[in-house]
Amino acid sequence: METKILNTDDAALAEAGQILRDGGLVAFPTETVYGLGADAYNADAVRSIYTAKGRPSDNPLIVHIADIAGLSGLTREISEGARALINAFMPGPFTIILKKSRTVPDAVTAGMDTVAIRFPENETAQRLIKSAGVPIAAPSANLSGKPSPTTAEHVKNDMTGRIAAIIDGGACEVGVESTIVDASRSVPMLLRPGGITFEMIQSVVPESELDPNILRSLGEDEKPLCPGMKYKHYAPDAEVTVIEGDMRAVKREIEKRLGDNKNRRCGVLTMSDNAYDSAVIIHCGDTNREYAKNLFASLREFDRLGVETVFAEFENRDGYGLAIRNRLYKAAAQRVVRV
Ligand code: TXA
Ligand code: MG
Repeated sequence: METKILNTDDAALAEAGQILRDGGLVAFPTETVYGLGADAYNADAVRSIYTAKGRPSDNPLIVHIADIAGLSGLTREISEGARALINAFMPGPFTIILKKSRTVPDAVTAGMDTVAIRFPENETAQRLIKSAGVPIAAPSANLSGKPSPTTAEHVKNDMTGRIAAIIDGGACEVGVESTIVDASRSVPMLLRPGGITFEMIQSVVPESELDPNILRSLGEDEKPLCPGMKYKHYAPDAEVTVIEGDMRAVKREIEKRLGDNKNRRCGVLTMSDNAYDSAVIIHCGDTNREYAKNLFASLREFDRLGVETVFAEFENRDGYGLAIRNRLYKAAAQRVVRV
C-alpha cells in the first residue's frame, strides 16, 4: 500500500476525512503523541488498526471526539464526578473511561462494557475529526513494541506501506500519552499518568485514587485495570538504567558506571548540564515537561545510534514526574538506582 504524506491545509484534511469515511487508516498529530485513526463505527476499519500495528486485539482503543457533544453517542452514563473531570480537562491530554453505549463496536472496546474517550486539544486533530464527521478510534501510531511516535518521521519509520496516509503536523507538545482516568466506577481511578497530573485530578475530585500498579512492575497473577498495562512496554535495544536523585550525586554515579563499562558503547540521557566523556549524550531537557516531551524521541535515537547501555539522569521536580517515571522505569525494565 502506498502511504500518502499530507500537510494540514483544508484540502489535505478533506482528503484525510474521506479516507477515514471510506474505511482507511490515517495517522494524525495530537498534543500527546501521534494517533493511528479509523472510523470508530466501522468495525472492519477498526480491526485493521490491530493488523497495521501488530497489536493484540484484546487491548482496547481510545475514541477521539472534536466537541463535548460527541460524548453523548458513545456513553450511556456520566456521573457527577465524571462530568466535573470532563469540564476541567477536555479538551486536553486526558482520556476518560465511561460506560459504553450499545452502538460502540466491540472491536473498539475489546468487548469491554466501557469505552475510553478523548477530546484532543491539538487543532489539526480537531479539524480532522470534524472533517471525517465520525468519532475516530486511535491508539498511538507506533508498531506494537516501539515507543509512541512524537513526530511524523517516527510514524513514517513504523507505518510506511501499512496505512493510507500520515498527516505531518510537526512535533507533539506533551510527548507522553494522555492521562487515563476510569470514571465508570464509583470513585475515579487514574490508570495511566500523563500531562494532567494526579494532583490536578484530585483538585477536581478529591477522593480520586491512583492505580497502585503504575509504579510497580506487574506480577504474573495481577490483573491490571487498563489492559494495555499488562503488555511488555517499549524497551530500547540498549539496556537502560535510571539514575535518580540530586544531579551532583547522579553525575558521580554515572561516571563510575561509565568507567565500569569502557568496553561497551554507552549513552547518557541528561536532565542537567553535566558533561560525560566517552559517551553518546542526548540532552532530554532541563524540566520535567521538556523531559516528557523528548523522552520517546531520545530512546528511538539511542537505538538508531547503536548504543548498548544507556544511563538516564532523572530528578523528580513536579507532578509531571509520575508520567515520566512510569515510561522511563518500563523502558529500563525497572532498573532504577536512587542516589
Ligand atoms: O495520548 C493518547 O492517549 C494517545 C493519542 C493518540 O490519543 N493514544 C494512546 O492510545 O496512547 P493507546 O492505544 O496506545 O493506549 C490506550 C490505552 C491502552 O493501554 C488501553 O488498554 C487503555 O487505553 N484503554 C482503552 N480503553 C479502555 C477501557 N475501556 N478500559 C481500560 N483501559 C482502556
Ligand atoms: Mg500505545
